[in-house]
Amino acid sequence: MSKLIIANWKMNPSTVSQAVKLARAEDKKGVVIAPPFPFLPLVSKVLRKAKLGAQDAFWVPKGAYTGEVSIHQLKTLRVKYVIIGHSERRGLGETDWLINKKIRAALAEDLTVILCVGEPWRVRRKGLAAAKRFVKQQLQKDLKGTDKLTKLKAESLITAYEPVWAIGTGHADRPEGAVEMIKFIKKNLQSKTYNLKSRVLYGGSVTGRNAAGFLKQKEIGGALVGGASLKPSEFKRIIRSL
Ligand code: PGA
Repeated sequence: MSKLIIANWKMNPSTVSQAVKLARAEDKKGVVIAPPFPFLPLVSKVLRKAKLGAQDAFWVPKGAYTGEVSIHQLKTLRVKYVIIGHSERRGLGETDWLINKKIRAALAEDLTVILCVGEPWRVRRKGLAAAKRFVKQQLQKDLKGTDKLTKLKAESLITAYEPVWAIGTGHADRPEGAVEMIKFIKKNLQSKTYNLKSRVLYGGSVTGRNAAGFLKQKEIGGALVGGASLKPSEFKRIIRSL
């Protein structure tokens, strides 16, 4: 299986012209670019090889939901992927209940979900077993009921293991540590309930320098890249390391 690189721009860059420039530089096969909502239409026009992703989505198709963006609206812009449950959103109060609603709606509408899970430092410092328990609970709550969806296929659900302590800190997990957690996530997804052999990515301070260490591991299906996806030369190094 070829590797997938997700460029999560978060709330960057500042202007449309910067966004278009960045999109052109990162328009490569095997890449998904997730810009902020206001840049989706133009980035969508620019991309030839990369696919378009969104950083969030709301589950109701339309109506009185101030500030939200629906899956249906995203699809009109050729969005194919949606990141759900990023720890920065969880940190702002997004609950597993909301995440579950979003995942079910996105799957039902044929978007590929990139579900982010991962433990904060207060859990990790208690050890790997505590981290595994934490992630298992996230998976159970976030995926509740999805096994009943006829549209749940291995390709439509990507999981990203993103230890919260590694995001934006410059302290990536060790590749062996990430592999251990990713194997655990895969085991959970392959359980009788879901029976999914799907892709699991690593995310958290991936750079041009450390990317190869993660991407050469057969268990790691790709990378979710934040900060380094805003620097074209850094991002190119990540792609080259594939
Ligand atoms: P980072 O972010 O690469 O800047 O650590 C990763 C992410 O938040 O998905």
